Amino acid sequence: MRAQEIRQAYLDFFQRQGHTVLPSASLLPENDPSTLFTSSGMQPLVPYLMGEKHPAGVRLANSQLCFRAGDINEVGDSRHNTFFEMLGNWSLGDYFKKEQISWLWQFLTEIIGLDPRRLYVTVFRGNESIGVERDETAREIWQELFRQAGLAPKVLDYSSPINLDEGRIFFYGEEKNWWSRSGAPDKMPVGEIGGPDSEVFYDLGADRKKHENSRWRDKPCHPNCDCGRFLEIGNSVFIEFIKTADGFAPLRQKNVDFGGGLERLAMAAQDLDNVFATDLFWPLTQAVEDLSGRKYQENRLPFEIIVDHLKAAVFILSDPLGVKPSNLDQGYIVRRLIRRALRYGRVLGIQKKLWLSSLTPLVGKIYENSYDYINQQASDTGQILAAEEEKFSRTLARGLTEFSKLSGTERVSGQAAFNLFQSYGFPLEITTELAAEKGLSVDEEGFRQKFREHQLLSRSAAAGKFKGGLADHSEMTTKLHTAAHLTLAALRQVLGQHVLQKGSNITTERLRFDFSHPEKMSPEQIKQVEDLVNGWIKADLPVKCEEMTLENARATGAMGVFASRYGDKVKVYSIGNEIISASKEICGGPHIVQTGQLGVFKIIKEESSSAGIRRLKAVLN
Ligand code: SER
Repeated sequence: MRAQEIRQAYLDFFQRQGHTVLPSASLLPENDPSTLFTSSGMQPLVPYLMGEKHPAGVRLANSQLCFRAGDINEVGDSRHNTFFEMLGNWSLGDYFKKEQISWLWQFLTEIIGLDPRRLYVTVFRGNESIGVERDETAREIWQELFRQAGLAPKVLDYSSPINLDEGRIFFYGEEKNWWSRSGAPDKMPVGEIGGPDSEVFYDLGADRKKHENSRWRDKPCHPNCDCGRFLEIGNSVFIEFIKTADGFAPLRQKNVDFGGGLERLAMAAQDLDNVFATDLFWPLTQAVEDLSGRKYQENRLPFEIIVDHLKAAVFILSDPLGVKPSNLDQGYIVRRLIRRALRYGRVLGIQKKLWLSSLTPLVGKIYENSYDYINQQASDTGQILAAEEEKFSRTLARGLTEFSKLSGTERVSGQAAFNLFQSYGFPLEITTELAAEKGLSVDEEGFRQKFREHQLLSRSAAAGKFKGGLADHSEMTTKLHTAAHLTLAALRQVLGQHVLQKGSNITTERLRFDFSHPEKMSPEQIKQVEDLVNGWIKADLPVKCEEMTLENARATGAMGVFASRYGDKVKVYSIGNEIISASKEICGGPHIVQTGQLGVFKIIKEESSSAGIRRLKAVLN
């Protein structure tokens, strides 16, 4: 089965089980100050998992584009990607373990035809100290399904050493079978949600079990041992807890959050031993073979890094919410991806100028008919990539020469690493990798110190956004979100109806708001917008939410820049009373209930964002 067919079959299957299929949310999260990228399908759904009503119902499914910067160093083990698609289905307080596990089994064994004998599963062992029981329910459901398939599924409690041949279902502790965005229970901040999970693994076969670089080569094998034999293909999380100051409390509703990587499902269904040979990558892998005259099978690592990073960069650059390479936040990550790919191009001896950007249309081709915006944007994306490529190619060779001069030392100082960054554009990991090849270490903290001194690392990045974390629905961000609606309405009154929202980003300190407008705003216009918004705040207007079909919402004149995200039924937030109608927008929320709570609105900056797009920053005092 081709990957596109697997994706479609999954969405169709869950639609038949009563799920509403949603489009993928943007890779760049909106209104979520805690993280730079969407890294799981559940991330945009956090408010709904916590109990807010979702306009599309209680059963949802989608294929979510995900990016995990934290996995950048995992790329190269044949199964990890920074960018991937996660097939997901959710029960928002509706069905639970029985349906989830049975449907998943049916999808894996009947729809995509995986052999039950090659499936292994894990469940949560339980932990008294956090008050969560051993998951005998999930264990029993799995055991019955295996039995029906004619297998005798022995259950084992994982402990080392283990004899794999005896087990099919394994109990593990919270280090393996607990999921939250921050990880194990003790890593979760107060307010975060999570729960025990149950993972499914696909046996790639004992003959190819030991990845050559694996530190597990000579150790006994079990599903979670990472030796390369077992591939995790899906994870059902039973999100039923919220972390509180004194432990865990049950959520208002028991949810299911399933996620399965499309690339890995394709790898299993296509019976391959690495994701880069699936049809989601192979045309690119082959193109790099042609460009370099080398063979993937002979030296996989550089190919995997190039192909992974290229695809991630193309998706991030083409995202409807848009980001360009820069030294800040998401822009900095995309720049690092491009540069690292170029460096590995050199390792493979690729000579051709602008070779990386020339591969952009191929990425579009792989995703034809599923993410067509990649194709529509291909020429712009290609140009941005080419400009980056040109810029870095000019300094890469000189930087490498400069690096080779560092040889007599054992440790590359923070200053030297920073010079390589500043003069030759070497991101830290390039320097670290080059150093490792020569057996040198790098003073990474020293580098970061220099970096901070030069204020290249943004405050948000320094605040830990790269790590991911809980969506912050704190009071201030909710207020700023409501202020964003008022801002759009006021801009349209002052500047004209051509003004549309082009993006927004909220931190606990300020609102950043991008909008279409051809010229700089005058000080008078800025003042008028502030006065309008503050007038609405003073009038203490109620904020009301109504659910309706997208067509009805459009008919009432609701603004809806990101409307397509919510499927058929949408939420419309109106701000106003019988006399004043300030704003009406399609939006997922959350919002405050009365504008009087907002304080004083002030625009602190107005500047150009890109051609035809202005950006303002505003605060509430
Ligand atoms: N949120 C879980 C994960 O990312 C399952 O969707 O693995």
